[in-house]
Amino acid sequence: MTPRVPVAVLISGRGSNFLALHEATLAPDYPARIALVLSNRPDAAGILRARELGLVTDVIDHRQFRGAREEFDAALDARLREAGVEIVALAGFMRVLTEPFVNRWQDRLVNIHPSLLPAYPGLDTHARALADGVKLHGCTVHLVRAALDSGPIIAQAAVPVLPDDSEATLAARVLAQEHRVYPLALRLLAEGRVRVAGGRAIIDAPHAAGALANPLPEGAFVA
Ligand code: GRF
Repeated sequence: MTPRVPVAVLISGRGSNFLALHEATLAPDYPARIALVLSNRPDAAGILRARELGLVTDVIDHRQFRGAREEFDAALDARLREAGVEIVALAGFMRVLTEPFVNRWQDRLVNIHPSLLPAYPGLDTHARALADGVKLHGCTVHLVRAALDSGPIIAQAAVPVLPDDSEATLAARVLAQEHRVYPLALRLLAEGRVRVAGGRAIIDAPHAAGALANPLPEGAFVA
């Protein structure tokens, strides 16, 4: 069996995407394994769960660095190297990473964002989508570049925005897709099926043809 690619998952909070990745890695044919779960917050629910699961965990508390982002990122980089990590997966990691760090991990640093990028980079994506009245919303897994929430897109999932949605119902619908699409994107990356050319990610994987619409045209077939 080919060795599985060691991945670090970086979190700051709840950790539901980390758990989705962890569950995916339990499949015998999954090409990656979680070598480290790291949080910048000692009390993050996700890091407590990772410990319960017996995974290797670490905390690098950003408050110890008094705003010196370069020093925080240097400590992070050292820890990732020490753990022998080859891919870094950001999963609700609420720290902006410095350019040297991002460049050092170029094309091996991946993030999940709760919108269909390039729409709605930044925070409060669900509230902004509702305010704009968009009919489709979703999530994106992308390779990280220095500019916030930018970089070659590996995978996206779209969900309908329903007339009576609140921020919470829309967030829950998107989150369910995050949990599907992140393991898929990490699989593609770990299998070496993501190639970057001209700032875009070219994915070597079968494609589904078809269309997604909301509202559906009259008489449209719904599976
Ligand atoms: C997710 O919505 C993710 O897209 C965003 O932060 C949230 C993290 O949630 N980057 P969780 O900690 O994975 O549950």
